[in-house]
Amino acid sequence: MCGIVGAIAQRDVIEILVEGLKRLEYRGYDSAGVALVNPDKKLDRVRRVGKVKALADAMTSEDHPGSVGIAHTRWATHGEPSEANAHPHISNDRIAVVHNGIIENHAALRADLIAEGYQFASETDTEVITHLLHKELLKSGDMLEAFKATIAQLDGAYGTVAIDVENPGQLYAARSGSPLVIGYGIGENFLASDQLALLPVTRRFSFLEEGDIAVITRTSVQIYDQAGQTVQREISESDITHDAGDKGPFKHYMLKEIYEQPIAIKNTLEGRLKNGKLAETAFGEDADRILKDIEHVQIIACGTSYHAGMVARYWFEEYAGISCNVEIASEFRYRKSQVHPKSLLVTISQSGETADTLAALRLAKEIGYHSSLTICNVPGSSLVRESDLAYLMNAGAEIGVASTKAFTVQLVGLLLLVTAIGRHKDMNAETESHVVSALNALPAKIEQALDMSKAINLLAEDFADKHHSLFLGRGDQYPIAMEGALKLKEISYIHAEAYAAGELKHGPLALIDADMPVIVVAPNNELLEKLHSNVEEVRARGGLMYVFADSGAHFKSDSTMKVLSVPHCEKVIAPILYSVPLQLLSYYVALIKGTDVDQPRNLAKSVTVE
Ligand code: M6R
Repeated sequence: MCGIVGAIAQRDVIEILVEGLKRLEYRGYDSAGVALVNPDKKLDRVRRVGKVKALADAMTSEDHPGSVGIAHTRWATHGEPSEANAHPHISNDRIAVVHNGIIENHAALRADLIAEGYQFASETDTEVITHLLHKELLKSGDMLEAFKATIAQLDGAYGTVAIDVENPGQLYAARSGSPLVIGYGIGENFLASDQLALLPVTRRFSFLEEGDIAVITRTSVQIYDQAGQTVQREISESDITHDAGDKGPFKHYMLKEIYEQPIAIKNTLEGRLKNGKLAETAFGEDADRILKDIEHVQIIACGTSYHAGMVARYWFEEYAGISCNVEIASEFRYRKSQVHPKSLLVTISQSGETADTLAALRLAKEIGYHSSLTICNVPGSSLVRESDLAYLMNAGAEIGVASTKAFTVQLVGLLLLVTAIGRHKDMNAETESHVVSALNALPAKIEQALDMSKAINLLAEDFADKHHSLFLGRGDQYPIAMEGALKLKEISYIHAEAYAAGELKHGPLALIDADMPVIVVAPNNELLEKLHSNVEEVRARGGLMYVFADSGAHFKSDSTMKVLSVPHCEKVIAPILYSVPLQLLSYYVALIKGTDVDQPRNLAKSVTVE
C-alpha cells in the first residue's frame, strides 16, 4: 500500500508529483505529502492529513518551485494517520524519504539511532530509513554508498525513494518487495509505485527487480542488482489507455465498473475462443504443454480474489474432474502444507502486487509445485512476471477499492482454465461447447441483470437503519454469498456474514430476528429444494428475507420476503451473474449510508504489505 512518486527534471515538478499522487490514491488515502529541493537548495516539505486533494489545495495556494522531488500517499501501518506521521520524513533538513511497505527491524534501528542522538518526529517505521541514511552519509560522504549501506540494514518488504539537498541531481530508489517503476522522459525521469501515476508524462517504463537499487538523474538511470552489479532492465512502451480521472456519467468508479462488466467480459474472451471452443493459446503458447500434465490445482488468493477461487473449486471438481484446493494466501504462506504430485499453483489477483499472494507464489516455487499460473489484471505486475503462465484479464483498470468487474472477469478466466485443464481430463467436447456458449451469452445476461438496478435501489432503503446482515447461498453460490457480504461490509460498514445455507442450524439461526436482514441467492439448480427448506427455517424464526431468485425458483414476495427476479441463465455461469445484483445492493446501501464508496475507510486498493 502507499503510493510513491518521484521526479527529476529541468522544469518544476510539483504538478507532476501531485497528479501522480491523485492517480495512486487507490493505494492509500489517509494522508499525503511532498518534498522538493527548492532553488535555494533547501527542502520544501508540505504534508496534509486526508486525501491528496487536501495536499493539492495546500500546494496551489503558494508557489513551490523545484525540479527534483518526491511525494507519497499513505495507508497507515505504523502510527495513526496524522501530519507528523505523513511522508516524506526528513533528517537534519537534508535527507527526505518516502517509503511503501514495512521495515520489520525498525524498533531495533530506532533504539540505536536514538542512542546516537537522532530525534524522531513520528511513530513511523519509515523515519528510521531517513536518519540511518543521514548517519551513513556522514560516515562515507558518498550518497550512493550511504544509500546502499542503509538498504543493507533494513529487513522487510518495501520500496523507498530518497533525495538529498546536497546532491540535488539524483533520486535514489530501492525495491525489496514493493513495486517501483521507472518512467523515462526526454531530459527528465520519474519513479512511481505504478505506471498509472506517470502516464501523463511518459509511456516508457522499466520495472525494478527484487533487490535493485537505482540512481536516477535527469538524463540517466543506473541500476544495480542485488549483487551490486550494474544491470539493464528492459524498457517497454505502455499501451495503457486508462485515464484515472474519467468517471464518465457515473457518480462513482464502483458504479462505472459495475456497468463495465459486459464489455470487460467481452474483452477478456476476445481472441480466447475459436469456433465455439477454447483457443489452444488462450493461456499462452506454452500453456497446453504444461496444463496437460496437471493432476491437482491449488488456488491462492486474498479477499474478493479468494472468493473467485472458491467458486472455481466447485467448477474444477465438477466439470474438469480434477481435485482443487483453495486457500487464503496469508494462511498458506505460514503453514507447512503438503504438495500434491503434479500440482498447479494458481494465484488470482486484480493488482498482481498483493504481498501475501506474491509471497505464496514464491514459497510454492521452493516447495515443489509443478508450475504456476496467475490470473491477473495488471500486465507487468510482480505476479505476472514471476509466474510460469499468466492469464491477463483485460478488464481495464479497476479504481474503486471494492472489486467488482475484476471479480466477474476472474471468474470467466477461471472457467476458461477449468476448460483448458478439463480437456485433458473429464470434460468432453460437448461440455466444452456448452461452457463456451454460456460464456458468450454472459455479457447480454449481465446487461439484463443491470436492469434490476432501480428495484435494488428501492430495496436498499430497507438497510438504512440496519447494523447486521446475513448472506446465504449453497454450492457454488456460497462463495457468491461471501462476496456479497464482503462488498456490503467494506463500503456500507454494515456488519455482514455469509453462511452456506445448510450451516444455519449449526449456530447462526440464533441470530435471526426482524433486525437481521437475510439475503439469499437462489438460482434454479439442483440445490434449490434444499435452499427452500433453509428459507423456511429463517421464516419460522421471524427473519426478513431478500431473495435474488431465478423466475423458475418459485419464491413469492410476501410480508417476510422480498423476491427480486434474476434473469434465467445456464447453471455454469450463474455464480458470475448473481454477483451483479449483490454488487448493486451494496452500492446503493452505501449511497444511502453516505459513505465514501470508492475509498472506504481504513482500506486501500492494492495491499502490498502483509
Ligand atoms: O489485487 P488483489 O485481487 O490481489 O487484491 C486482493 C484483495 O485485497 C481484494 O480482492 C479486496 O478484497 C477487494 N478490494 C475487496 O473488494
